[in-house]
Parts: sequence; structure tokens; C-alpha cells
Amino acid sequence: MRIIKQVQQMQKLAKQTRTKGLKIGLIPTMGFLHEGHLSLIRLARKEADFIVVSIFVNPTQFGPGEDYQAYPRDLQRDCRLIGQNGGDVVFVPSSEEIYPEGYCTFVELEGITRKLCGAFRPTHFRGVATVVTKLFYIVKPHFAVFGQKDAQQAIVIKRLVKDLNFGIKIIVAPTVRESDGLAMSSRNLYLSEQEREDASVLYKSLQGAKSMVEAGERSASRIIVTMEKMISEKPTAQIDYIAAVDDQQLEPLEQLSGEVLIAVAVRFGRARLIDNIILSV
Ligand code: PAJ
Repeated sequence: MRIIKQVQQMQKLAKQTRTKGLKIGLIPTMGFLHEGHLSLIRLARKEADFIVVSIFVNPTQFGPGEDYQAYPRDLQRDCRLIGQNGGDVVFVPSSEEIYPEGYCTFVELEGITRKLCGAFRPTHFRGVATVVTKLFYIVKPHFAVFGQKDAQQAIVIKRLVKDLNFGIKIIVAPTVRESDGLAMSSRNLYLSEQEREDASVLYKSLQGAKSMVEAGERSASRIIVTMEKMISEKPTAQIDYIAAVDDQQLEPLEQLSGEVLIAVAVRFGRARLIDNIILSV
């Protein structure tokens, strides 16, 4: 397994790999890898001849006062895990390598990036779309894998690829969870013991919503109110949003029908956690 830090070197290797007729799979990450990330690498392994995992804590997707500085980092451990799970290259550029002096080009999607998390983190998806666009140009993948855990991100990336004719297949992989249902996240590290215990309510509230729908409930507001009650019973939970939206435009629904995304964002102390499920109603 190779570790590459320079954009130019990565571009050269990607070009050579494509010339050999090999299929390149990219898994973009911000590192501090857990089973969720590793499941994406293993999934990619089934389809790719050559796997690139990028590790870059992307400053442009963090807002002022967010956890850019505090974001956990452990490159040595990450590289070992990537090697063990079938990665061929770890691309770890520095911030200056991705955003050299004078950098001023950004990729902005309208509409869907203002909803859900975008309403609370107004510059977040601009940063994500910009860095993912750059990674696509640098790594030249045939396909890229993203996690369903970040449902809005996956929708934004699919839209970006379609709108800019990237011709890259986007695979969305299922959310990997802890035994009590909490979605794995690098940010779970921030949780105190009490917060960690409380945080399992997110998945339970989503499962509660699923049971209500299975029992015939179609009113979004009744489902949201029930989830809100469950979550706010936990002393450390501070809700950003609970939403039931369509899975394309992310428009709020009154009556559930079709493919429905139920998504939550809740703060537990320093950790802002998100989770979601998709229901076919
Ligand atoms: P990061 O949070 O490191 O996540 C990298 C990828 O892993 C994303 O596609 C995310 O959805 C996926 N992932 C995270 N937790 C998961 C879980 N529990 N189960 C399955 N997949 C999971 O998302 C980012 O980084 C960044 O925004 C990035 C796309 C790299 C752009 O900077």
C-alpha cells in the first residue's frame, strides 16, 4: 500500500492506472477511521481493481466555532486499517496542497444544500462539494463510495455528479452501527459516558418512526412529535432538527408517501450527531 501526499503524484498514478485499464474506486474520508469507513472500503474492493482512500480534514466544510481543530486524527492507525481492508493507496494531502495560496474556486449547489443540516451549517456543503470535486479530478475514479449515515451529503454528491457530468458512479453504503444502534461516527469520541448512553435514543426514535409507519401512520407531524418527545426525555440531548422529507428535493412532507427520508440532528455536549432512515411508504 502506498501513501501519497502530493496532488501531482496522485494525478500521475491515477492516469497510469487508468491507462492500464484498471477500475479505480475512491473512498473520501476525514480519517480517524471506524467500522463504518472500513465497510465502504470492503464494499469498493468487490468492484474496483484499485482502491484509493483519501484522508483530508477539509477546513472549508467546517463553520466558524466548529470542531476543525479538535477533529480527531490518527494517521498511522488509519493507514494500517486501510491496508488490512484492501486499500491500495492512501491519499493524504496537506491543507496547502488542496488549497494553495490564492485559492478561490468553490462549488455551490442551490436548494438542497439549504435544507436540513444546511440550515444549521450554511457553508458546510459548499466545502464538501468543493473538496469532493477536487478529489474526483485528482483521483479520476470510476466510482466512489459514500455512507448513508450522511444522507444529505450522499444526495448532494449524486446531484453534483449529475449536474457537472462527472460520469462517476456513486455507491451509497448502509450505515454501520454500534450494538445499541448508535451510528458509528468519528465524533462519538467527544461523548461523555452519560451523553453516549443518551445518544442511543437517535436510532430508537428512528425505529419508533418506522414502527408507526408500519402500523399505518402517515402524518409527518405526529411522527415528528413522537420522536421529539423520545429524544427530549434524554437530559443531554439538544435537538437541531427532526424532519420527514422526500429523498430527492428534501422538501418537508405533511403526509408520508413514496421514498421518505426521516433525518435527525441532535447535539449531545460537544458532539453534533446525525442519523436517518429511508422508508418506502
Ligand atoms: P467522514 O465523516 O470521514 O466520512 C467518510 C465517509 O464515511 C462518508 O461517506 C460517510 O457517510 C461514511 N460514514 C461515516 N460513518 C458511517 C457509518 N457509521 N456507516 C457507514 N458509512 C459511514 O463525510 C466525510 O468524511 C466528508 O464530508 C468527506 C465526504 C470526506 C468530504 O470531506
